[in-house]
Amino acid sequence: MKDFNKLCRMLLVVRIVKRIPEETIDNVRSQNDIVDIVSEYVQLKKQGNNYFGLCPFHNEKTPSFSVAEDKQIFHCFGCKKGGNVFTFLMEIEGYSFFESLSHLAEKSGIVLPNIQQTEETQVSPDEKSALAAYEWLTKLYNHILRYSEDGKEALNYLTERGISTETIDQFHIGFSPNIDGFILDFLEKKGFHKQFLIKHGILTLNQQDEAIDRFRGRVIYPIKNHLGKTIAFSARALHGDEPKYLNSSESDLFQKSRLLYNFDLAKRDIRKKQEVILFEGQMDVISAYQSGIENVVATLGSSLTESQAALLKRYVDTVIICYDDDEAGLNASYKAAQLLRKVGCEIKVSHLHDGLDPDSFIKSYGAEAFRDQMIDKSDTFINFYRRFMKKQYEITNESERLEYIRTILKEIAHLNSAMEREHYLQELSTEYHISVDTLLEEMHSFMPEIKQERKELSNVSYDAQPRSYKRKKQLLPRFHNAERKLIAHMLQDKVISDRVQEEISIGFNIDEHKIIATHLYAFYEMNDAANVSQFIEELTDESIKQLVIEIAVNEAHSSISERELEDYITLISRQQNEQTEVESLRMKQKMAEQQNDHLKAAEIAMEILKLQRE
Ligand code: GTP
Ligand code: MN
Repeated sequence: MKDFNKLCRMLLVVRIVKRIPEETIDNVRSQNDIVDIVSEYVQLKKQGNNYFGLCPFHNEKTPSFSVAEDKQIFHCFGCKKGGNVFTFLMEIEGYSFFESLSHLAEKSGIVLPNIQQTEETQVSPDEKSALAAYEWLTKLYNHILRYSEDGKEALNYLTERGISTETIDQFHIGFSPNIDGFILDFLEKKGFHKQFLIKHGILTLNQQDEAIDRFRGRVIYPIKNHLGKTIAFSARALHGDEPKYLNSSESDLFQKSRLLYNFDLAKRDIRKKQEVILFEGQMDVISAYQSGIENVVATLGSSLTESQAALLKRYVDTVIICYDDDEAGLNASYKAAQLLRKVGCEIKVSHLHDGLDPDSFIKSYGAEAFRDQMIDKSDTFINFYRRFMKKQYEITNESERLEYIRTILKEIAHLNSAMEREHYLQELSTEYHISVDTLLEEMHSFMPEIKQERKELSNVSYDAQPRSYKRKKQLLPRFHNAERKLIAHMLQDKVISDRVQEEISIGFNIDEHKIIATHLYAFYEMNDAANVSQFIEELTDESIKQLVIEIAVNEAHSSISERELEDYITLISRQQNEQTEVESLRMKQKMAEQQNDHLKAAEIAMEILKLQRE
């Protein structure tokens, strides 16, 4: 009875009435292959029927994220997230259903009926307003720089730095004029309240309690999120004032440690090239981007964080670190390299000379030279490590020199490829006039230590995820497995579903399976063919939806024989009968106890046990 009540409750959940015709939604769904869409965010590799990759929704080193092309759904064995092409975009971009739909419709050239969007996004109304204020300001600052008398000086400054007006507009670079109350006036006219602007750090209160723009008299670089929406500003002084750069304060929208400058524009090229170039400063990015090198991002002056490293790892295997040629740059390169290696990236490090930064290199020698010398000829990690370590030791001192060589040998010992190890040993041998044999012997002394390290590392897997692609088989009772299998086939084939409906209707033993069957029968009333991706969209209960996805991805793909089908059905109905019998025995037992007939109660208990054992 309690199953039935639960079932009724589930079915009573009223579906949000969609304002877009189902056919249009179906059309958009079928025009956008989930493998293509997911591939824009995750490197997928085909394995058997499905595609696998690193889950974009949680940190992991071994892939547990899978996409089933035939069913057009995705599922992660690690974090259990799953869904269809729309849900994927909702999760990864924070879109609402409507936004996912419009995005994909646009991609495939489908025109949506002109309907007011009423569904809520994940962004709160407050944040939405803040985004709107930032957007207005971005436009205003840019306009002042480009077209006003007040912006002339800043425009000259940028022109002298070699930045074209196209680039200024592409990055929406701007200028905040030195006029009292100007920004407040402007934003108030757009309907924003002073208190709201202060709360979001867009304006600041000064000593006299006036809401002022801290960025007055500075060049403004909008900082955008991965969707290209301004969420903060970085403002550069024009006349050598300190500090050189002022940033908006951190907020829910703007967290410097989780964001990379220019990720929104670079995303596409990063994926295309399977490589990203990492800079320290926004001027480096702008300069490179302007000269046609587009897979470029920057941390905003602070050291790379783990969440930024993980973000990059989701997109690429190789990161080229390109920091300023000074001591701070070298140290930061080393830190970034270690972090990126920790999350599993291959790294390379550019070798700038003469105290240059990437921006000034491009200005002096051009993009061609930059590509050739800084990217194509960037150092491998070992070579960079040699350069970095050399600074830590007094190489002319003999014992320090030997210590240095040992440090390098240890790192070489970590390499997996014998060929690479030999290559670096040769180099060391030539440079320090020590025979390769001696170096080899010394290197081998590190091996036990490294083996131990590796063992420890494999014990504490990066995120404690299962190492293999395949989910470990759950130990479930036979009838439970039979129900899962049957549902998997019902999801794939209407004929099987019809047959099961006739024979056992919703006589499944697991409550959730009853619910799925009910929804599925209803689905097939309206649709002639199986379509898992569409089916899950119609499920409102999140846990049921996830279960359907999990069953669809995990259980049998091949066709089912008549014999198997019969076996499953028999197994399920027999269990059902037993369950009813056990339930009625329990009632009798309770009654016997109430009547103080302990002997009878004990007899019944034995009977129940016997039934359950069977
Ligand atoms: P330009 O001098 O304009 O060419 O900038 P740059 O990119 O060469 O700057 P630099 O190499 O000095 O610093 C790298 C990055 O650190 C900059 O892009 C800024 O994001 C950040 N940065 C530099 N100076 C400051 C500062 O004084 N305050 C803050 N908050 N950030 C700074
Ligand atoms: Mn710099």
